[in-house]
Amino acid sequence: MKTELYLPEVVGKGYGTFWNCKKRYRVVKGSRASKKSTTIALNIICRMMEYPLANTLVIRKTAATLKNSCFAQLRWAINRLGVESFWRARVNPLELEYIPTGQRIIFYA
Ligand SMILES: Nc1ncnc2c1ncn2[C@@H]1O[C@H](COP(=O)(O)OP(=O)(O)O)[C@@H](O)[C@H]1O
Ligand SMILES: [Mg+2]
Repeated sequence: MKTELYLPEVVGKGYGTFWNCKKRYRVVKGSRASKKSTTIALNIICRMMEYPLANTLVIRKTAATLKNSCFAQLRWAINRLGVESFWRARVNPLELEYIPTGQRIIFYA
């Protein structure tokens, strides 16, 4: 079954420049709940599916909260994009795999 998703509707307003930026570093700042985390999570999932050589390393200061923050956020993005059948989540070690290519998102603290 094929479902079409209109990305600007999913991503919301204000992040066009950030979304399309191809520079090496992107810094996103904004007040609490201004969609920074959700938007980068959606963007990483989209870009990994677009670029078959890309992998992702997620780094957070505290290991204990990785699972309930970054990992959960990326899983939310996978579901929001409706591509959960293409991704596999592993908890020990924390890892998300794009099944068609074996690309990975790994997590360190
Ligand atoms: N694209 C989106 N679609 C639906 N809800 C969203 C979206 N972006 C943000 N939200 C809602 O806004 C809340 C705050 O977003 P979040 O990315 O956590 O903000 P920030 O990281 O800037 O503090 C989220 O918990 C979520 O409920
Ligand atoms: Mg955040």
